[in-house]
Amino acid sequence: MELSNLFSSGNIGSVQIKNRIVRSATFSHMAEKYGYIGESFLKMYEELAQGGTGLIITEATAVDPGGTGGPYQLCLYEDSHMSGHKKLVNLIHEYDNTKIAIQIQHSGRLGDHPKYPTIAPSPVPYKETGITPKELTSKEVEQYIEKFVNTGLRAYECGYDMVQLHAAHGYLLNNFISPYTNIRNDEYGGSTQNRVKILKDIYNKIRDEVDKNFPIIIKFQSQDFIPNGITEGEGIEIAKILSDIGFEAIEPSGGTRESLYFTKNSLPSRSIKKEEDENYFLPFAKKIKPFLTNSALILVGGIRNPLTAEKILQEGYVDFISLCRPLIYEPDLPNRWRNGDLSPAKCISCNSCFVTMDKGPIYCVTKQNLEKRN
Ligand SMILES: Cc1cc2nc3c(=O)[nH]c(=O)nc-3n(C[C@H](O)[C@H](O)[C@H](O)COP(=O)(O)O)c2cc1C
Repeated sequence: MELSNLFSSGNIGSVQIKNRIVRSATFSHMAEKYGYIGESFLKMYEELAQGGTGLIITEATAVDPGGTGGPYQLCLYEDSHMSGHKKLVNLIHEYDNTKIAIQIQHSGRLGDHPKYPTIAPSPVPYKETGITPKELTSKEVEQYIEKFVNTGLRAYECGYDMVQLHAAHGYLLNNFISPYTNIRNDEYGGSTQNRVKILKDIYNKIRDEVDKNFPIIIKFQSQDFIPNGITEGEGIEIAKILSDIGFEAIEPSGGTRESLYFTKNSLPSRSIKKEEDENYFLPFAKKIKPFLTNSALILVGGIRNPLTAEKILQEGYVDFISLCRPLIYEPDLPNRWRNGDLSPAKCISCNSCFVTMDKGPIYCVTKQNLEKRN
């Protein structure tokens, strides 16, 4: 078979994934009001499982009501959210050994909740909204750590196969690890080790309470593309620290909406005009792979061609490949490839899905326009 690596099983910690295809976390705006799981939400995830993805990572799930990006973001900050998550996990597990991870997140400095203050490690104004966040006290940092831990433990109880911390794209955990947004003087600021301490504390506190076979994984900011932010060199150092902490898998990403003020095409979801634009975090992944003795490496960002993905896996540069926008257009893409149609993903990386996100459930505008025309 031409895609024998892509469709071989692989492990994250001791959890076996049936193939090397991960669905990268994707905010869907499909939860019911206040973050509950309803029928349309379940249907969207069921389609992904039917489509052959090995590991589905949910969308960013709020650990605190003040950390949401609106009332329709998925939440798991209180027990009342749990029954929906249990339904989701059970549904996905019915499909041919598909695994599901939950991504947990707080919007941090990017928050603009009408009822709750915007919070961050330091009061560095956010360029897009002009909001200066409230600086957390050391005691409050500990309270936010507990919020992540409690959501992680709820996820464990709901039966998720693993939990992913969202420490990228300008949200709270990214704010802590970045020297641009963290200018604290306490144990959570200063050196790289200090800025990463919040991730270590969350990891250890969840690890203490769960089975050793439950992976705790992370999506992290390898580069901010902002002056005084995380550079590639520091990103490599952070990756090493994360692996030493014990994170069972690492998915490097980078950029925020704010980085566009400084660096062209630096969004986490970049535009891709030509083949050379694809797989844009591969050069970084290659640099960290030799250090990741304990952690699986998940490559995200512009993966579109199954033959290239196969080669990347075959060369041993990464352990898994992760897709977001292609699966919005084609939730059955893994099965299409497995069944021998090796044409690249139909997604043209136009980011039309982003534009739909603010108003309602996300969808691919390009696909819809094509369908209307035919
Ligand atoms: C509509 C949309 C929603 C996204 N939501 C999330 C999210 O909730 N959490 C996250 O870590 N990344 C999120 N991302 C970023 C993707 O997971 C991914 O890192 C990025 O799009 C690059 O992968 P791709 O080229 O396969 O799309 C989102 C991207 C898009 C387009």
